[in-house]
Amino acid sequence: MDLDISSNHDQSIPIYKQIYDQIRELIMIGDLGDGDQLPASRKLARELGVSRVSVTAAYSQLAVEGYIVSKVGSGTFVVGLFSQSAEGNVVERAPGLNLSGWGKRILSAESVELGVLNSGRPAIDFGFGRSFPHIFPYDIWRRLLARYLSTDDTMLSRYGSAAGYIPLREAVASYLRRMRGVDCRMDQVVIVSGIQQALDIICRLFLMKDDVILVESPGYVDAYNLFRTLGARLQPVPVDNQGLPVESIKETSNCRFAFVTPSNQFPRGGTMPLNRRLALLDWAQRSNAHILEDDYDGELRYSSHPIAALQGLDTEGRVIYLGTFSKVLFPALRLGYLVLPSPILPIFLKAKELVDRGAPTLTQAAVADFISEGHFERHLRRLRKEYGSRRKTLVEALDIYLPGLVEYSDVEAGLHVMIFLPADLVEEQIVASAAIAGVGVYPGSVYHFHRPSRPSLLLGFSGLGTSEIVEGVKRLAKDIKKEQRSS
Ligand SMILES: Cc1ncc(COP(=O)(O)O)c(C=O)c1O
Repeated sequence: MDLDISSNHDQSIPIYKQIYDQIRELIMIGDLGDGDQLPASRKLARELGVSRVSVTAAYSQLAVEGYIVSKVGSGTFVVGLFSQSAEGNVVERAPGLNLSGWGKRILSAESVELGVLNSGRPAIDFGFGRSFPHIFPYDIWRRLLARYLSTDDTMLSRYGSAAGYIPLREAVASYLRRMRGVDCRMDQVVIVSGIQQALDIICRLFLMKDDVILVESPGYVDAYNLFRTLGARLQPVPVDNQGLPVESIKETSNCRFAFVTPSNQFPRGGTMPLNRRLALLDWAQRSNAHILEDDYDGELRYSSHPIAALQGLDTEGRVIYLGTFSKVLFPALRLGYLVLPSPILPIFLKAKELVDRGAPTLTQAAVADFISEGHFERHLRRLRKEYGSRRKTLVEALDIYLPGLVEYSDVEAGLHVMIFLPADLVEEQIVASAAIAGVGVYPGSVYHFHRPSRPSLLLGFSGLGTSEIVEGVKRLAKDIKKEQRSS
């Protein structure tokens, strides 16, 4: 079969990677399906005018990831239904699974983990979105959990409310009004097991086939993959240093939602200014769309007070506000919350009840007390101090060891810094050579819609001490300069 792909010798992307990307894309969009035969490597190499080594390298990468399989003597074939082992290796055909349309889309959804280092944990790991374990007050947490375990209260022997444990909803509502400028009553707050669950239920309730969701690029791909599997078409809008440039939204019919991270754009960084926020609300009103405001780490600002949420400016019930404890407590807690406009509330609760009957009451009760007894705000103050100083160390090290070579957002917020590298460098090569030097850095391209994107890396600082941060940047800088000399 002839493949509609090409190669470009002028690009900074290795030829094998260009071939790999294009074939993978054809499989993902369904142009290549189960059992389709790929051309022999020699033939494809001749057609593309590239070396056979490049084609075989692309084929072996696709085979390792489970997209294709080679059968000795008969050729190379696309694997339509595959499963991946925990290590991300291949591959077990899954004949006769009879998946639903959703199941098939899940199977072919891109896994972000693919872009992450597979080989053990590096000595200095700039992994992002992690909490720093030494900062969390475990003794208080243990005491609060024990409080509910050591009582004969009937709380644990009954199902809780699907909307969430009432004292936690009250504590969250009061916190959001005071600290995040959210305009809400307690009954609008629903406790979920993370933002991802909230998005899943909302989309299943409201998305119709071919509905469009406006999203930021680069952006939060876990949400985007979910949207895609639920049948949405995504309309990416490239962000700048101030988040989503509302003026560049193209008029679209069927636009149901805009998914935005106004407090701290993920992953690039940047805060949406007031004029853009007002323009986005205006756009939502005109388009009869809702805004999904992902306030995943809005509390974590280091040089100024947190910026109030977009939801607080909304007078028309257009914003669905989403928050999580994953960043400010810990991700394994699996607790988040959303604030729903009143008309959406009853249907959301009905769906929530059917989906999981409610988040675990024990941890909800402990978090409720953690907030209402003042531990949460004390913890946040400590996080801001500790993370703020780690971020400062990171950007100072970048300025010292990579002066003028990388760009990053100067908004002092969040748990990572996304750095943009000189255009002539190859992101994967930097990630690979840093790994050899014992430094884990994470590719930025997976968050971009249009590839090749400008080479970039994500450096999380929340899990590292200051001396490790400096040493990690030193080693990374050595690699970047070496790659630059040889490119
Ligand atoms: C941009 C963004 N939104 C939301 C979340 C939180 O999701 P959850 O509450 O499901 O842990 C994350 C977690 O990494 C994130 O990076």
